[in-house]
Amino acid sequence: MRLSRYFLPVLKEDPKEAQIVSHRLMLRAGMIKQQTAGIYSWLPLGYRVLRRIERIVHEEQQRAGHIPLLMPTLQPADLWRESGRYDDYGEEMLRITDRHKRDLLFGPTNEEMITDIFRAHVNSYKDLPLTLYHIQWKFRDEIRPRFGVMRGREFLMKDGYTFDLTREDALHAYNRHLVSYLRTYERMGLQAVPMRADSGPIGGDDTHEFLVLAETGESEVFYDSQITDLTFGDRQIDYDSHEECQAVMDEFTSRYARTDETHDPALFDQIPQDRRRIARGIEVGQIFYFGTKYSEPMGATVVGPDGARVPVHMGSHGIGVSRLVGAIIEASHDDRGIIWPEGVTPFHVAIVNLKQGDGSTDSACEAIYDQLRASGLDPLYDDRDERAGAKFATADLIGLPWRITVGPRGLANNRVELTSRRTGESEELSPRDAVARIAEIYRPVLAAGLPTP
Ligand SMILES: Nc1ncnc2c1ncn2[C@@H]1O[C@H](COP(=O)(O)OP(=O)(O)OP(=O)(O)O)[C@@H](O)[C@H]1O
Ligand SMILES: [Mg+2]
Repeated sequence: MRLSRYFLPVLKEDPKEAQIVSHRLMLRAGMIKQQTAGIYSWLPLGYRVLRRIERIVHEEQQRAGHIPLLMPTLQPADLWRESGRYDDYGEEMLRITDRHKRDLLFGPTNEEMITDIFRAHVNSYKDLPLTLYHIQWKFRDEIRPRFGVMRGREFLMKDGYTFDLTREDALHAYNRHLVSYLRTYERMGLQAVPMRADSGPIGGDDTHEFLVLAETGESEVFYDSQITDLTFGDRQIDYDSHEECQAVMDEFTSRYARTDETHDPALFDQIPQDRRRIARGIEVGQIFYFGTKYSEPMGATVVGPDGARVPVHMGSHGIGVSRLVGAIIEASHDDRGIIWPEGVTPFHVAIVNLKQGDGSTDSACEAIYDQLRASGLDPLYDDRDERAGAKFATADLIGLPWRITVGPRGLANNRVELTSRRTGESEELSPRDAVARIAEIYRPVLAAGLPTP
């Protein structure tokens, strides 16, 4: 992309309505525009990040064997009457009446609808296990939408639903989700710690939330500092293996880590004093096992091996796709702006032309741009007729992790400058080596992907 042809409406001033840094930076970097309370347009730069996050989620879901589908945003109220949640859900549910006076709602989640799909088409235990998921807009009429996309009313969520014959199989599905979530968040450059949580209105026995530690988080969390030493890395896990998934679950839940709802001071006090941490976290995902809570009232049964019909064991597993954009910024920024992790950056590298209009500088920039694109990368070429300082400020604000600076003085010695946004360190290289270096940096990022679903 050439910046002169792009739509990047950056703001000079700090927007007054933003209380936290991610919201402020998303507005300043021209990523989003609020349309009304808790409802946002995703401007091109924000949309790119959202799509990158969504893609990682898709890839990791499918790596774990989960199957994508797409359910609508609008749902008939009758399905929710069957489960008993139409009345229970309360003011957060946006209720709509169509021209025939039929009751609809904008889905806040999809347990009822997926159960309806399941019962219509699945009859036998031989079709299990089954995990279906989608990434779709949700609406919850939050009483206090705030912090930009972190607590919106309309937000993008990945919600997946597991169907199994037995409790044991359903718990394997739960563990499998924990493993795939660890991988998912690490690919986004995030540490998200699984913490024992409370099941809330969805109901159920087993549930963990994934929390990104950040001062601006809305949840109070209590944990043993050893938990944050764990990383998943690039382990190869057989997602069908109960033992392998259980081992990861055991490892990542072996230390005390709880949200305030399930916090147990007596247990917490058993941790050595110097390892006890009380902090704040942003919930970026949650996994639930809830047994037959929906399958029983809604008649989602299968014929078991002995010929008898039994209700299936279910779980639901969410990732806050749009919230993650804010959470990543909370975890990775400085005074000058955002610092995107390589896995989610909207553009892989900025090319800054220090002397726009100078024939040889322009053509050197064009050549670098073409070579980067030929390596499968998305550069953002700042070809505007602006001062160098303004170009640097824009690149820093929008957080591209790498910058190649090209000027006539360096080019005279066949040199350009490669700068890391994170460390601020620069290195002089030939244009060819700079391109090769960037391609090398992104090799694992590009290799981690799977084909588009
Ligand atoms: N209002 C919202 N805006 C943006 N993302 C949200 C919102 N509500 C939930 N999410 C995201 O969707 C994920 C799955 O939804 P879930 O039903 O677990 O939300 P929740 O527990 O009600 O969230 P919260 O406690 O933050 O209100 C959450 O982990 C969170 O990342
Ligand atoms: Mg939750």
